[in-house]
Amino acid sequence: MKTQVAIIGGGPSGLLLSQLLNLAGISTVVLERKSRDYVLSRIRAGVLEEGMVDLLRQAGASARMDAEGHPHEGCYLSTAEGMFRVDFKARANSEVMVYGQTEVTRDLYEAQDSLGATILHEVHDVELHDVESGAPYVTFVQDGKAQRLACDYIAGCDGFHGVSRPTIPAAVRHEFEKVYPFGWLGILSRTKPAADELIYANHPRGFALASMRNEHLSRYYIQVPLTDKVEDWSDDAFWAELKRRLPETVAAQMETGPSIEKSIAPLRSFVCEPMQFGRLFLVGDAAHIVPPTGAKGLNLAASDVHYLFTALKAAYQDKDLSLLAGYSDKALARVWGAMRFSWWMTTMLHRFPEQSAFDQKVQENDLAQLHHLPSAQETMARNYVGLPY
Ligand code: APR
Ligand code: PHB
Repeated sequence: MKTQVAIIGGGPSGLLLSQLLNLAGISTVVLERKSRDYVLSRIRAGVLEEGMVDLLRQAGASARMDAEGHPHEGCYLSTAEGMFRVDFKARANSEVMVYGQTEVTRDLYEAQDSLGATILHEVHDVELHDVESGAPYVTFVQDGKAQRLACDYIAGCDGFHGVSRPTIPAAVRHEFEKVYPFGWLGILSRTKPAADELIYANHPRGFALASMRNEHLSRYYIQVPLTDKVEDWSDDAFWAELKRRLPETVAAQMETGPSIEKSIAPLRSFVCEPMQFGRLFLVGDAAHIVPPTGAKGLNLAASDVHYLFTALKAAYQDKDLSLLAGYSDKALARVWGAMRFSWWMTTMLHRFPEQSAFDQKVQENDLAQLHHLPSAQETMARNYVGLPY
C-alpha cells in the first residue's frame, strides 16, 4: 500500500486533515483502531470557534452545522455576587457555534465517504518506521493480515493514548503536565436547556456548567472528587446537586429527565514539545490535552490541522518545505495560549481540595474583575471565541 500522507487516528483531527488534503489533490490513508460506530458514540464538548467553523466550510462538511448549529454571542457566569453575562460580540466582535463534536465527526465521515477517501477501521498494532528518513512507512494488522503502508509524511492524529507521540525519542521529547484534583461528572438528557446560553458556575459546593446541544438536548456537568464513580450518582442525585450550584432562578425552572449518557472525565493540561520529528507531525490530542473548561480541545486540534494542511499543501504544490519545518513552533504558540486560558478558567471556577482562605480571596477577586472590568471581559471574550490562527 502507498499514499502521500498516512494519517494515524480517525477522530476529528485525522478526518478533518484527510478531508482538506483530499480536496487539495493530496492522497491519504486514515488508520483507525476502533470501529466507526465506536468513534461516533463518544460524547465530547460542543462549542466551535470561528476558525473551526471556517475550516469545516472549507472542507465541504458544514451543511448540517450551518443549518442546525446555534451561534452564541455570549455566555453567563454565576458567582456568589450573582449572574452576569460576557458579550462575545461586543467585547471581541465574534461568536461561537454550539454544535456537538460527535456531529462534527459524523459530518466529516460523510464528507470523506463522498470523496471516496480511504479510512481503514479496526486496524491493530500500528507502528511507525523510519520517520527520520525520506521514506517513512507504517505497519499494521487488518483482519489478521500484516500490512505495510509507504508514505511521504505521517500525521499522528491518534489522541492522547496513541502510538505516534511515543515514536518521538524520549531524549527529544519534553512533556509539560498539570493534573487537577477533581473530575467532571457529565450527563446528556433530552430536556430543554436551562438558559439561552451556557452558564459557568462557581459555587462553594464546586463548579457546575449548564450547556446544550440543541433546543431539546442538554449537557450538564458538575465538579466531583476523583474518587467518585458514575455508579455513585443516580440521576436524581445529579439533578439535585446541579440545582444547588446554579442560580436559584435558573434551578427553579430547569427541566429534568432521565440521562441518556453519564460519565466522569478527569481534568488535565498536557503539552508535548516539539510537535514534529523528521517526517512525523503530531496533531490534536496526540500532542496536547486541555481541561474542558472553555471547550478548547477540539478547537486546538482544528488550528493544528490548519497549520499542517497549509504546510503540506505548500510542500506538494509549491515545493516549499519551510512551513513544514516551522509547523511545531507555529502550532505550539497557539497551543500555549489555549493552555493558559483553560488553566485560568479552571482555576477561577473550581473549588480545589487544598484551597486556602488566601486562595479563596484571590479567586473571588478574579471573578469580581471579570464581572466589573470591561478589559477583563475583553480578554476572556477574545480567548473564548478563539485567538487568531
Ligand atoms: N492506532 C490507530 N488509531 C488510534 C490509535 C492507534 N494506536 N490510538 C488511538 N487511535 C484513534 C482513537 O481510537 C481515536 O479515534 O485515534 C483517534 C483519536 O481521536 P481523539 O482522541 O478524538 O483526538 P483528536 O482527533 O485529536 O481530537 C481532538 O477531540 O477527542 C476530542 O478531547 C478531544 O476535543 C479533543 C479533540
Ligand atoms: C459541552 O457542551 O460539552 C461543553 C461546553 C463548554 C465547555 C465544556 C463542555 O467548556
